[in-house]
This record gives sequence, C-alpha cells and structure tokens, in this order.
Amino acid sequence: MPETFFIETWGCQMNELDSQRIAGSLRLRGYRRVDDERDASLILLNTCSIREKSEHKVFSRLGELRELKRETGARIGVCGCVAQQEGEHLIERAPWVDFVMGPGNVGNVDAVLDGERRVAVDFPEHRQYDLLAIDRGSPTKAWVTIIEGCNKNCTFCIVPTTRGREVSRPFGDVLAEVRAAVDSGRVEIELLGQTVNAYRCPASSRDFGTLLSAVAEIGGVRRLRFMTSHPAEVNDSMIAAMGDHANISRYLHLPVQSGSSKVLRRMKRLYTREKYLETLDRIRQAIPEIHFSTDIIVGFPGESEDDFQQTLSLIEEVRYGSLFAFKYSPRPGTPAVRIGEPVEDAIATDRLTRLFELHERIKRERLESYRGRVLPVLVEGPSKHDPSMLSGRTDDNWVVNFVADPATPLGSMLGVRIDDALHHTLRGEATT
Ligand code: 5AD
Repeated sequence: MPETFFIETWGCQMNELDSQRIAGSLRLRGYRRVDDERDASLILLNTCSIREKSEHKVFSRLGELRELKRETGARIGVCGCVAQQEGEHLIERAPWVDFVMGPGNVGNVDAVLDGERRVAVDFPEHRQYDLLAIDRGSPTKAWVTIIEGCNKNCTFCIVPTTRGREVSRPFGDVLAEVRAAVDSGRVEIELLGQTVNAYRCPASSRDFGTLLSAVAEIGGVRRLRFMTSHPAEVNDSMIAAMGDHANISRYLHLPVQSGSSKVLRRMKRLYTREKYLETLDRIRQAIPEIHFSTDIIVGFPGESEDDFQQTLSLIEEVRYGSLFAFKYSPRPGTPAVRIGEPVEDAIATDRLTRLFELHERIKRERLESYRGRVLPVLVEGPSKHDPSMLSGRTDDNWVVNFVADPATPLGSMLGVRIDDALHHTLRGEATT
C-alpha cells in the first residue's frame, strides 16, 4: 500500500505555502494526497499561534485525532507556529503526536519522516528550498518566499519567536523560482515575507524595490503582489517600483494596528500616526487610486476610549478598502503581557463592533464607486457561488464574478464592466 497524507492548514499565507512545500516533498517520496483524514497514513496539522484562539483549536483538533489514531494507526505530525512554540512540551501534552516540526524545518521533511528527529524546532542558517517540490494549489498563482522571520519587536507579537530572525533569500534564487513558476503557467506571483519589504539580498544588499522591479520585468508575470509590508520599511525604491510597473497590483496591505501614537509607541511599531499617514500620502502620490488594507488590534493594554476614537478617525481618513481587526490576545513570553491588563473583554468586543460598522460603510461606498466602469480582470477560475460565471481579481485586488465565455483560458486578462456591488465582491460582464 502506498503511503497517503492529509494536511490541514491554519493561519497566514506563509503557512499555506509551507504546506504546499511539505506536500510537494511528500509527493516526491511517493505519498499520495487524500481529502479524508480517515484514509491517511500520515496526518499533518500546520498550525498558527498568532492569537490564543488559534492555538486552542489545535489542541481540540489533536483530541479528535487521538481517537482516529486508535482506529487507523495514522502517524500524526504537528507543524507550524504552535509546533515551534511548544516543541517537546507539545509531545508531553499530547503523547500520541509522533513528531513536531517548526517553520524553519519545512525544507527538511525527510529527516523528520525518517525518524531521525522527533522534535525539529531550530532555524538552520541555510534553509532548503526545493522549487520543484512545491505542490502549488492554483494553476494561475504562485507564492514565493523572499524573506523569512521578523526582526521587529512588536510587544504583542509571537512571530519573532515562532519564525525566528529575518533571513532573506538570494536575489538570483528568487528570480529562478519565479521563472520556474511562470514556465508552469503561473502568471500571478505573490512574494511573501512576514516583513516582506525588509528584504535585502544577503550577497549583494539589493533591496525590496530592486527585487520588485526585477520580478515585474520577468516575461510572463502578468500580475505581481506581495505581503506583508511593515510601514517603517516603506522607502522610495519600493514606491518607485510600484509606480513604474503596470503589472504590480495597486494594492498594499499596510498594518497600522492602532490610530493612537501613544498605543503605537507601547506596541513598539516604530512609527507615529502622523508618520504612517505621511507614508500613505507619498504612496498615493505615486500610485493614485491604490487600494490600502490594514490590520488593527483593539483592546491593547491601556487603550482608552480616546485612543480608540483615534483609530476610528484614522480609518475614516484613509478609507481602507479592506480591514482585518482583532481583539488583543496576550501571547506567552511577549512584552505586552507585562505592560498591563488587557482592556475588559466586553469593552473590547464593543469597540470591535463599532469599528466594523464604520468600515462596512466605507467599504460599501468604495465598492459602489466601481459601478459602470470597465476594469481589467485576471481570470482565476469558475465562481464559487455560481459555476456558470467566472471569477477573478481587479488589479487593485477586488474579487469580481462575471459573465463570460466559459472557455476563457484561466490566467487571461479580460475587460469586465461592473454592474453590481455585493457585500465583499463586484459583479459584471466581460466586454472583451
Ligand atoms: N493579539 C491580537 N492580534 C494580533 N495580531 C498579532 N498578534 C496579535 C495578538 N497578540 C494581529 C496583528 C497582525 C495580524 C496578523 O494579527 O494585527 O498584523
């Protein structure tokens, strides 16, 4: 019987890509992927620990898998950030787990599977990237890691612990991986890093803007995106690269976390409200109509109603198209735990609700403003809700579902007239 694997992934795109890399390595070893965990001889959980809730989910899932293991005898491996954070301790807490492998060892799956290492949670200086062994989920899109880890010390954040210090990949390696992805039909490339714009080639010191331009100029890259940028790392070279290349998405995710300079200082975000807004102005001058999105934490220790009002006024001022907001969740070992008590839960919940209400109105107005316009859309596949329609994204990263010739090849760029704005998405009809 050939070996089979089942993999479940939580969290950010980095984790999604890690799962694609692990799946690719397993396939090279002859494993077959299955969609039902009952059919698997190896079950992998690729986990997230950014907030307490995500971590709880892992342990309740492990409880279920304990039962399954009794029936099927499957091996169970925990990967990702909970694996990194808990290490040995995870096996003590859940002894039915066969191995624990952190994000630094995604390139060393073989050693773990062969039983050489049961707990692999170091960060090897030379990370392995096997570009041929990535089980990419989409026929049109490829994620490419350019930098791993994070050197910032935001006081709320577990990432520096779970993903280690920053390590950038050599410029030439990134270009080679992009070329290989394009050769396999992936016309959309997304460069990934926890602080993607802190990229610096270890050999030549070339910066993120230089890399962005070089990738945008590779023939066949129809659309280029990147995630996640840190506001304090935005520089002229990055802005110029975005302004100079029509195939770089007019979309920028720039987490602000709070609109109050007092809170930002306590978070160690390395910018003030004014500085952040000034950065956005500079970007807007070079790339008019850019779609900004952001992350916000409400209820950080010491956040007053006045601080929160400043967050609301910042959202109003920037008019973010998309926004991800979370209640502060204390993470073990992070400095914020010592800063003080979090805001009372009922107050934090209320703030979150008010914030989403404000943003819903702004998003609605923005989506409505697209009615009647014809926008270039990159075709990704059939629409999830109505398979008779196609789905894709505008170059400022809105999802559009539209009527078109069903034989349209995936990855092509079409003009789509927008007829309707729904809750999160646009709807229209192809004009070309
Ligand atoms: N509590 C709540 N949200 C957090 N984030 C990171 N750490 C925490 C935490 N301890 C949020 C930030 C970050 C996003 C990925 O998750 O907003 O940008």
